[in-house]
Formats: sequence, structure tokens, C-alpha cells
Amino acid sequence: MARKTAADATARRAEHDPLVAVDAAPLLTLKDLRKRAGHTQEELALALAVGQDTISRLEKRSDMLLSTLRQYVESVGGRLALVATFPGQPPVRINPAGGKKKKGQEAPPQRGRTQPLPDSRFRDMIPTPHYLIDKPALLRNLQIIDQVRERAGVKVLLALKCFAAWSVFDCMRPHMDGTTSSSLYEVRLGREKFGGETHAYSVAFADHEIEAVVAHCDKIIFNSISQLQRFASFAGDKPKGLRLNPGISCAGFDLADPARAFSRLGEPDPARIASVVDRIDGVMIHNNCENSDFERFDALLAEVERRYGDILRRLDWVSLGGGISFTDPGYPLDRFCERLRRFAETHGVQVYLEPGEAAVRHTTTLEVSVLDVGFNGKHLAVVDSSTEAHMLDLLIYRETAPIGQGEGDHLYQICGKTCLAGDIFGEARFERPLQIGDRISIGDAGGYTMVKKNWFNGIHMPAIAVREFDGSVRVMREFSYADYVGSLS
Ligand SMILES: Cc1ncc(COP(=O)(O)O)c(C=O)c1O
Repeated sequence: MARKTAADATARRAEHDPLVAVDAAPLLTLKDLRKRAGHTQEELALALAVGQDTISRLEKRSDMLLSTLRQYVESVGGRLALVATFPGQPPVRINPAGGKKKKGQEAPPQRGRTQPLPDSRFRDMIPTPHYLIDKPALLRNLQIIDQVRERAGVKVLLALKCFAAWSVFDCMRPHMDGTTSSSLYEVRLGREKFGGETHAYSVAFADHEIEAVVAHCDKIIFNSISQLQRFASFAGDKPKGLRLNPGISCAGFDLADPARAFSRLGEPDPARIASVVDRIDGVMIHNNCENSDFERFDALLAEVERRYGDILRRLDWVSLGGGISFTDPGYPLDRFCERLRRFAETHGVQVYLEPGEAAVRHTTTLEVSVLDVGFNGKHLAVVDSSTEAHMLDLLIYRETAPIGQGEGDHLYQICGKTCLAGDIFGEARFERPLQIGDRISIGDAGGYTMVKKNWFNGIHMPAIAVREFDGSVRVMREFSYADYVGSLS
């Protein structure tokens, strides 16, 4: 009875004194919060797409990131508010992000964080699925690009069609000369987010976009003589180029082979090209695809020289496109640089390379969580992502992804969660049987993934996160139901 009276008195005082209201609130641990909400650790782990051991560790921790705490509180149905009290003053809510808030405005509940997560323990708290771009790994490729620029005297442009995650452009910019594009939107992104030299190319420019394309680019490259004739006058003084197609295949896939039968990619005929050479300053040749064979590249270049030598001598620049795997371990960089330099000197041209894959290979993973396990003759694990929606090229090229560490006695087929029967990332070995909530890293998820992701089955689009040089992980972009709705009408 006495306690009830004291509590009543506190409640009455709290109505008048906000300081008392804050102090009078019950003090609960995270575990208390969870139990009060009627959740088990397993349920919370599922909701947060982490392992149950992560929840257990979290509940024992006395110190943690606000973002982690916020996520936990939201997952038990609450909202985190930070309140500071000062003697003689009303309490204030703290906005740790420092953003401008209107008076009385609540911070919206958010699953996403922009605060860095300082080490790998916290990485487990970023919800899956997410792409994770590793800046130190990116730098390894960029340092090779630096070597090639210096030793071969070439300029290197990032092919945005492969990789356009602009939140890491700050890291790439010092090591590349600019970007090349395949559309108005890409050329604009290159100009606005990367800078440097901005090349515009498209298989076909449309009348309504040509002025904007020209406004954003430094050079414009036409795919055909008819496009050159139609649009050259719009380009004014800006250097103009034409795509050539020597008809030689350096690609393992017919689908990605510009030399395939009846190809629409570039002009093949030296006589026709010679007839417009006065109207162009340079050419672009992109006939490699994941070509790690230097001899094959060398032979292609020799054929280009044989076929178009007279034309090359009248030009200022030649772009040799992308598709050359020169950042792969063991690629003969010395010979590559020497060959490029010799090509440039022989024809008196500035050579450009346009790597996509070579710039970002082995830099990015797709982080996913196991949602279900089963056995149908093979052990299966269904994860919270999809090849079709998030790593489309696996399907297009009928490839499988490198998954996990690749070692262990337990072999699983890792499957996507869309309704497509063949939505399968590949098979991988694990040291112990997979459990619901386990995290898996799917490798080589940098090139042609984020630029191709889609909303098939309406499944959650992976966030984009970046591992910084100090090991911290930062979520740069999250996608929500609103993005899904906004992509349709
Ligand atoms: C014209 C052009 N340049 C560059 C690239 C980038 O190629 P990769 O990502 O294989 O290096 C492509 C890819 O299709 C391309 O078509």
C-alpha cells in the first residue's frame, strides 16, 4: 500500500516535472525488453536476419553502437529516443546524426544506418541482404591500374555499365582518368559523380537525348556511320569517335561477343570507315570479354593494326574498350604495358582502356542469410536474395558464384528465394551444418550486379555497404517498399 502511494506520488510529480518522468521510467535490460515483448532470441535473430548467438552476445554487452541499439529496440516494437537531463532545465532529446530537425519532430524509425560499424563483430548487425564493397580490395585493383597508366601511358576510364556504385568513386577517382558510358543517364552520372574525362557512347542515341548527352560529355563515340552522320553536328567542337568492329572474337560467350554473326556493334568495313575519317578524331574497339589470355589480346591488336592501320594514323586517340582481365593474378603486366605503349607510339595515338570487371573483380560480396534449409537428395539452403534479382549474370551466363570459404564436410546448394526454379547461386562447402539465420558471403558480386538489380518477386533489394580502410563498415544506401512501389505505376 505504501509503495503504491509512493508510486502515485511519483506519477503525480512526473506530470509536472519532466526530469522526474524520465527518472521514473523503469530501467530494463535488452533481455528484459525482449521478454516483455514476448520474443525469444531465435525470433529476434530471424527478424534481424542474424544468428541467435549474435543476439545472445548483444544482450550481454554493456556498450554498443547507437545504431545497433536502435535496431534492437525497433525489432521488439519500440522506438529509441535519447534523452539528456540537466538540473533545472527540461530534458532534451539528442539527435546523434546532427541533422536538422523541426521542433517537435521525431526521428523516424529507421532500419538503416549511416554511422560506421567499427569492426566485423558489428557487421553482423547490418541486415541482409547487402552488397559489401571492400575498399582495401578495390585499392589492390586500382594500384594495378595505376601501374598500367604509368608504364603504358594509357588513360583508364571506368565502364559505368559494369559498376556505378558512386559512393566509392572518391576512392577510385585518383586512380582513373574518368568514366565511359552507354546511355544518357550513365554519362550524366559519370560527369556528376566521378568527373575527369567523360566519354559518351551508345549503341543508338535518340533524337530527344542527344543534346543532353553532348552537354555532359567530353567525347562522343557513335556506334555506326549512320549515327555519326545524324548527330555529329550536335557535338560541335567536342571530339567525335566511331566504334570499329574487327570481327575477331576474344569472348567466351556468344551472348557477349561483339564479333558474333550479324553483330550491330560497330563498323567493320575499312573502306566505309575511311570515307568518314575526316569527321572523327578517334575510334573505340571493344572486342574482349573476360579475356585473361594476353596472346589472344595481342593477336587482336595485330589484326586491328593490319586492317585499320591507315585509319589509325590519322586519328588522335583509340579506345581499346574493356574486357581485358589485366588485374587478375598472374596476368603478364609487363608484356601488356609494353604492347600498349608500342601500339600508341606506332600510330601516334592516345590509348584508352575502359575496364569494368577488371576494376572491381574480387572487391565485393553479396551478404545473405539462410532462411530455410532442407534436403532433396542434396542439402539445400534458401537465402534472402536471388540470382535473378541481385546477381543476374549468373543466370544469363549460366555460371555459379564463389561462395563462403569453400572448405568443410557439409556441401550445400545455395538457392535464391524467388519462384524461379533455377534460382541457384551455386554449391559450397561449410564446416558445420547450416542453420536458419547463418550468414553467407557470395563472392564476386561487384561487376554487373548492382547496376542490374531488379524487383522481381518484390523481394527486398540489397542495401549497399562499404568496408572502409580502417575496417569499419558503413551502409551507404538502403532500399524499401517505397522504392519498389516507386519503380512501378
Ligand atoms: C564499349 C564497352 N566498354 C567497356 C566495357 C566493360 O567491359 P568489362 O566490364 O568486361 O571490362 C564494355 C562491356 O560490355 C563495353 O561494351
